[in-house]
Amino acid sequence: MEEQRSNEDEAVSPAKLRFHRELFSRPSLHGSRNTLRPEDARLFPGESLPAAFARALCERRATCLKELLEATEVFALARKAVRAPVVADLCCGHGLAGLLFAIFEREVERVHLVDRERPASADLILQAAGDVAPWAPSKVEWRREQLKRTTLEPGTGVIAIHACGLRTDRAIELAVEAGGGIAALPCCRPHRGHPAPEGLKLALGADEAIDVHRTYALEQAGHRVRWKTIAPTISPMNRVLIASARRDVDA
Ligand SMILES: C[S@@+](CC[C@H](N)C(=O)[O-])C[C@H]1O[C@@H](n2cnc3c(N)ncnc32)[C@H](O)[C@@H]1O
Repeated sequence: MEEQRSNEDEAVSPAKLRFHRELFSRPSLHGSRNTLRPEDARLFPGESLPAAFARALCERRATCLKELLEATEVFALARKAVRAPVVADLCCGHGLAGLLFAIFEREVERVHLVDRERPASADLILQAAGDVAPWAPSKVEWRREQLKRTTLEPGTGVIAIHACGLRTDRAIELAVEAGGGIAALPCCRPHRGHPAPEGLKLALGADEAIDVHRTYALEQAGHRVRWKTIAPTISPMNRVLIASARRDVDA
């Protein structure tokens, strides 16, 4: 089955935009890669902390709407399954998804932001977090490293948003080793290089087969896996694999 394609005219279910519901009716904006500006703060009215953080990101010109919605939607879907005293955002880019755990989850004491590069926008996002959630920046530890060298302490919850190719599988491997939950939003699946059975790739399509293979790997390791989606208007690569390490947690 093909993943849903982005379609600006497609109605987006309210359930699919969890933090910024005022944007339901504006799907044509969801995939915007234009940097949010101070004047865009009006898109995020209200007194809530998510709205205040979004406005702070606008003030700092820290990111675009697509990145904000991608991170907040995955966070909203995955927070219960992933939260733990230590959370790692792997191939984190500017680290927005991991930072959401530092801001919104009291249980989370430390957040490791792991990437081989640290973009300039990472500082802006951290500053925006500090503007509205002064408790958050001190929880964050940046780790500039190659994912193949990464190790995680036991119990770490893992996020891997568009980690690209086999790095999603590496993130799954790390979550299994650590025994924590994981939320992965896979992209550009490596059709030839992935160990999913060729028969499944032919029968189901490679993208589907690869995620089935990942699901079995997690289930065999004792995780419980759910497939969810974020709105295709945010990203056409919109399937989220959510795996809880504890059988009593409802992802
Ligand atoms: C498509 S971006 C996703 C970034 C972020 N998760 C997001 O959703 O905005 C992929 C990220 O993986 C990082 N990356 C690529 N290869 C890596 C590696 N071998 N080890 C660590 N990070 C890597 C890149 O620097 C980039 O930030």
